[in-house]
Amino acid sequence: MKVLVTGGAGFIGSNVVRALLARGDQVRVLDNFSTGNRANLAGLTEDVELVEGELRSYERVHNAVRGVEVVFHLGALGSVPRSVQDPLTSSAVNVEGTLNVLLAARDEGVRRVVFASSSSIYGNQPELPLQEAMAPDPISPYGVAKLAAERYCVSFARVYPFETVVLRYFNVFGLRQDPRSQYAAVVPLFVTAIAAGEPVTIFDDGGQSRDFTYVENVVAANLQAAAAEGVSGRIFNISGGAPATVNELAETIGRLLGKPVERRYLPPRPGDLRDSWADVSEARSALGYEPTVSLEDGLRRTAAFLLDGKE
Ligand SMILES: NC(=O)c1ccc[n+]([C@@H]2O[C@H](COP(=O)([O-])OP(=O)(O)OC[C@H]3O[C@@H](n4cnc5c(N)ncnc54)[C@H](O)[C@@H]3O)[C@@H](O)[C@H]2O)c1
Repeated sequence: MKVLVTGGAGFIGSNVVRALLARGDQVRVLDNFSTGNRANLAGLTEDVELVEGELRSYERVHNAVRGVEVVFHLGALGSVPRSVQDPLTSSAVNVEGTLNVLLAARDEGVRRVVFASSSSIYGNQPELPLQEAMAPDPISPYGVAKLAAERYCVSFARVYPFETVVLRYFNVFGLRQDPRSQYAAVVPLFVTAIAAGEPVTIFDDGGQSRDFTYVENVVAANLQAAAAEGVSGRIFNISGGAPATVNELAETIGRLLGKPVERRYLPPRPGDLRDSWADVSEARSALGYEPTVSLEDGLRRTAAFLLDGKE
């Protein structure tokens, strides 16, 4: 099958690309390398057709979509703090960029678009676990943009003759996640800091919970979402299924690395949620999704990659 992965040079996208190549797909990547990285596709340049370009350009996206059967749309500007800093660019890339992908997919007769949405669309809900039917209440501009984008996906499945599936990822971590960016995520930051004997910075009291999800689970969900029957226009939570607090995360990483954990607490950041964990029963029954790699196994593999370059 011929497929396009937008954001294929990014953390999750490059893991999706590897899985698609491994099953024999013809893979094209659209990326502008703004947060992604050529090194994430190292060793694959012979196998992947690379289109360097901007999601905000319909023309560029249209060229990239031509001739593919499925689009995995992961290209985006991630990070809640980044969107608080610059909501306009967050919206331009995450909303208009998605609209370009959907329009191009419609115009080119693509069978299905699988979209990477986010748990941030929920905001702070009165009840947990988070279920797809709950009324979204995003706090950050990033959450608002992802919500608008996923509503476009659902709308397009209703008004045009092609299919879309929305996956709401929860705190993904794993191989090829950047520990160095200004907006780096908590797992690579904690692993590198604890390994180096440096303090970890925890915003708020560390009692906030997250449904940390190893990237291999998300990759599997993408493949399932591209193949499942009768799921067009639907939205699914994709998570690790075993939430932990940020304090617990730090302790677990310290234990796995055999290192003491020094913590430095700072006030909560604007836009962050207090508790975020998912009910994945919809994905389980409709897609056959099962989070097969646990938090601890995922952390072990992530640490081996970050610290020793082992895959
Ligand atoms: N990492 C998580 O925990 C998480 C959670 C929920 C949702 N998501 C979503 O999953 C997707 C992948 O996230 P990730 O963590 O791999 O992030 P990432 O930053 O590593 O990957 C995003 C990719 O998109 C590319 N990109 C950004 N702006 C672009 C533009 N204007 N034109 C073309 N390409 C552009 C980047 O260069 C990068 O390669 C994103 O849509 C993100 O919002 C991630």
